[in-house]
Amino acid sequence: MILYEACFDHKLDRSSLIVALGGGVVGDMSGFVAATFMRGIPFIQIPTSLLAQVDSSIGGKVAVNHCKGKNMIGSFYQPIAVFIDTETLSTLPAIELVTGLVEVIKYGVIKDAELFEYIEKSLYDILQLDQKALLKIIATSCQIKADIVAEDEKEKHVRAILNYGHTIGHAIEALTHYKKYRHGEAVAIGMLYAARIAVEMGLTGNTVFERQLSLVKRLGLPLSTGLKPKDIIQTLYLDKKAMSGKLRFVLPTGIGEVIISDQVTEEILSRVLTSNFV
Ligand SMILES: NC(=O)c1ccc[n+]([C@@H]2O[C@H](COP(=O)([O-])OP(=O)(O)OC[C@H]3O[C@@H](n4cnc5c(N)ncnc54)[C@H](O)[C@@H]3O)[C@@H](O)[C@H]2O)c1
Ligand SMILES: [Zn+2]
Repeated sequence: MILYEACFDHKLDRSSLIVALGGGVVGDMSGFVAATFMRGIPFIQIPTSLLAQVDSSIGGKVAVNHCKGKNMIGSFYQPIAVFIDTETLSTLPAIELVTGLVEVIKYGVIKDAELFEYIEKSLYDILQLDQKALLKIIATSCQIKADIVAEDEKEKHVRAILNYGHTIGHAIEALTHYKKYRHGEAVAIGMLYAARIAVEMGLTGNTVFERQLSLVKRLGLPLSTGLKPKDIIQTLYLDKKAMSGKLRFVLPTGIGEVIISDQVTEEILSRVLTSNFV
């Protein structure tokens, strides 16, 4: 409400411009205000966290949280431009860089084997904020997300592949009340489980899982949650992405290729969720 008040106080009109300068929270909130104030005024995104640069600033999803549901009040509203300055990452806390990188790894798994390989080879440079390496992974990620969104803005089909690792990741976040794990930490574990499911179902070989595990380990991210498989499964069924009672999973068939499957049985799920990665 305070943001809308600022819009009134500054006498914004349809020719005004809102600039969202900050991380994903700032981008999502400012974008939502821009989408709704006077039924929409122009806005630009200047994302300053890695997650916002590679993910939330691209694609036009804007939202605010409600105590009854995260991101449930929102809209699709495109910024007129996104400006990214990789130098902003120099002040970003290291853990935010690492968790943002999980989304970049995700892009590699779903669409770009070369990007994935580049991260494997250049992880040290990326974490040292080598500008060339950052530019490469950020530009590639933005392109991948923009291409997917251009094909399917409203998430009717292919955009769903962006949810790789997020099905179980969201369940982990929800069960721990969004407090114990950062989004990227929960998604990393979700990606490992999804890869394991794909291996169990014979959709891909074990190296696809091992390569992701190795990267997650090198990033020092948690590999387990201590949550009960049955609680995760129950939460999955409550997830808004469950379609007519069936769970939908994005599963890798190789590095750079995924499918969307509703064939993951509870039996496979509980077997995989019981396994650990250490
Ligand atoms: N719209 C979408 O498509 C989409 C996609 C993914 C995530 N999201 C949303 O994005 C949000 C997460 O974004 P986030 O990870 O950027 O979180 P965030 O905005 O909370 O930023 C993380 C932390 O980093 C700080 N920060 C940001 N830039 C900095 C910089 N350059 N130097 C120092 N500190 C800096 C922030 O103040 C904050 O403390 C969540 O609310 C999530 O729901 C939206
Ligand atoms: Zn995410």
